[in-house]
Amino acid sequence: MIRYLTAGESHGEALVGIVEGMPASIPLTPTDLDEHLARRWLGFGRGGRAKIERDRVRILSGVRFSHTMGSPIALWLANASYHKDRAGWPEVMAVEGEGEGIEPVTLPRPGHTDLAGAQKYGFDRTPHGPDLRPVIDRSSARETAMRVACCSVARTLLRHLGIEVGSHVVRLGAVGYDDAAGWTEARDRLLEEGGARALYEAADQSEVRMLDAALSAAAVEHIKATKQAGDTLGGVYEVIATGVPPGLGSYVQADRRLDGRLAQAILSIQGQKAVEIGDGFAGGHWPGSEVHDPIVKDEAGRLTRASNHAGGIEGGVSNGMPIAVRGTMKPIPTLIQPLGSVDLATGEAQPTRYERSDVTSVPAASTVAEATVAWVLAEAILERYGGDTFAQVQERFEADRR
Ligand SMILES: Cc1cc2nc3c(=O)[nH]c(=O)nc-3n(C[C@H](O)[C@H](O)[C@H](O)COP(=O)(O)O)c2cc1C
Repeated sequence: MIRYLTAGESHGEALVGIVEGMPASIPLTPTDLDEHLARRWLGFGRGGRAKIERDRVRILSGVRFSHTMGSPIALWLANASYHKDRAGWPEVMAVEGEGEGIEPVTLPRPGHTDLAGAQKYGFDRTPHGPDLRPVIDRSSARETAMRVACCSVARTLLRHLGIEVGSHVVRLGAVGYDDAAGWTEARDRLLEEGGARALYEAADQSEVRMLDAALSAAAVEHIKATKQAGDTLGGVYEVIATGVPPGLGSYVQADRRLDGRLAQAILSIQGQKAVEIGDGFAGGHWPGSEVHDPIVKDEAGRLTRASNHAGGIEGGVSNGMPIAVRGTMKPIPTLIQPLGSVDLATGEAQPTRYERSDVTSVPAASTVAEATVAWVLAEAILERYGGDTFAQVQERFEADRR
């Protein structure tokens, strides 16, 4: 069993993470984690904090001579803004729509965690009056930086087994492909050339992580216009994993289904509201003859599928085809435009105030989704091929593949 925990608030000194249960002797360096941390900052339309934070992870334990030791891996990510605040740059406290400083915040933003979180933990009625800041600072997506770091350990394990996870954005607000047919060709060409790594590297070339240049340009214009209007955007992205063997997950018990576990992984990310596996919702529109993937033999005589409408999973079990999961993110809840709210200090109706924030974080969310999908796949790989050393895992994995 592997697991990870994160701790830390967005305005605290650092985020910390612990990854436990990884086999010994996986090659691992901070660069393996920093690569994906840097990718989390991608995306046109990101706010001030993206300009301040340059994440570099410190590995505090569990790794020696660039290999895991089998013991818990402790990770540290400094919040650059914490040190800048103290150097007298108050402006940075206004980033990510999180208020201006350490004074109490009493005006909850609709769509954010502010009010529900305060009601849960009693911050709407402390002896000193209401203060939403404890909720804001932990529910902030700054936490996803440590999540990406932890999950990138799993991703490194997968990479050494030839499994890659990538993603691309397929919709930003009103700009997107009409249907999956629009992106399938470009995506499949990249997967054919270099697996999911080629997919994410191609997507990373676009400011909005879209594969189509004309759509990328239209999305950038859409973001600019939305910002001008003081509004925000959500969107849709697709995560693909290649090199995944058949047999991960199981149909024998509800909580072992790979599709259910992947859905949980996506919805565990802040602001994600829907998940589709394979054709997803569109599959509900078509007859079975157009949805189910015929079973055929490849040149080597192995059983495979003629198409991949199922997104690589049948009966909660991977079938050897690429895993395809899409996620939908709602628009960012911190808007320049005021939304209706009530000030908890006065009890009076009070529209939300201007706060600097991202216009959209869909490109960033797509990279976080890659990370969480990688975690679930690594967990399933270790269930099936697990050992105390990476060599044992590799041997079992290769034997099964043969
Ligand atoms: C990578 C990423 C960046 C985000 N950046 C912001 C932001 O700058 N401002 C904001 O208000 N919300 C941002 N969010 C969204 C909020 O975290 C999210 O809407 C909030 O947690 C409530 O959503 P929930 O109810 O689905 O958890 C971001 C989310 C992600 C995944």
